[in-house]
Amino acid sequence: AQKIIIDTDPGQDDAVAILMALASPELEVLGITAVAGNVPLALTELNARKVVELSGRTDIPVYAGCDRPIARSLVTAENVHGKSGLDGIELPAPTLALQPEHAVDFIIDTLRQQPEGTVTLVPLGPLTNIATAFQRAPEIIGRVARIVLMGGAYFEVGNVTPAAEFNIYVDPEAARQVFASGVPITVLPLDATHQALTSREWIETMRALPNRCGPAVASWTDFFERFDKEKYGSAGAPLHDPCTIGWLIRPDLFEGREINVEIETQGEFTTGMTVADWWRVTGRPANALFIRNLDRDGFFDLLSERIASLP
Ligand code: BDR
Ligand code: CA
Repeated sequence: AQKIIIDTDPGQDDAVAILMALASPELEVLGITAVAGNVPLALTELNARKVVELSGRTDIPVYAGCDRPIARSLVTAENVHGKSGLDGIELPAPTLALQPEHAVDFIIDTLRQQPEGTVTLVPLGPLTNIATAFQRAPEIIGRVARIVLMGGAYFEVGNVTPAAEFNIYVDPEAARQVFASGVPITVLPLDATHQALTSREWIETMRALPNRCGPAVASWTDFFERFDKEKYGSAGAPLHDPCTIGWLIRPDLFEGREINVEIETQGEFTTGMTVADWWRVTGRPANALFIRNLDRDGFFDLLSERIASLP
């Protein structure tokens, strides 16, 4: 199985991504690292533990990482995810304890201990933990197999400003370091994730599953959808973060291009923009596989199958 570390700020769509990963035999989740993003760190690490407990996989360690971006103050998204970050269903307080080690130390230690090129990082929130680990222990950079992240947008532009997607916008300095690291990167931007829209039928299928995870997924997507309908006037909740797990398991369901992507950190109106050289006009070397399309039905079939296999 492909070893991964999920770095996350749950978040309803993060929660679905975590469940999907834990249900997938193709992946071995070495740990889950929380970062400040959708809500402050105290809530993202708590939510991560709640989701792990819901999945029944209490063997998965959860670590708390950075509580604020590298060079800016934290911007959160309670307007999207609710006050708890995981509104939609009330989950019990987790019995699973938070690991004492800092998430950044866990990332560094794991990359040092595991054979070179065997660990993939899967960031689902701002890139603060990843960039901090790279800064503190640059020798681990060459040991990372790949980074498969949700973030950015190009043709679909932004969701937090006209030019920027939330995860990149919150910590553009961290994103810049990660995109300049030389690690192979797969980017699941809004261009792709806005195609992963839930349908009413799919949500009802989840609600009807004879387990506890299916109905939880339905409640989260209901909450998430209410937000997006108001904002975008379209039905369905975009399952941004689960697209990363989908790509890891079934890359054939996705299409994109190997291109150069630079992160704007100083724009007057465009800070946090992923400037994607889709038409390859700059001559700058490719540093990312930028996904633009996905097979929606194939993706949701895969997700349903995985959620159905959980407790
Ligand atoms: C991203 O921002 C968060 O609100 C979601 O969890 C997702 O990771 C989408 O822009
Ligand atoms: Ca997220």
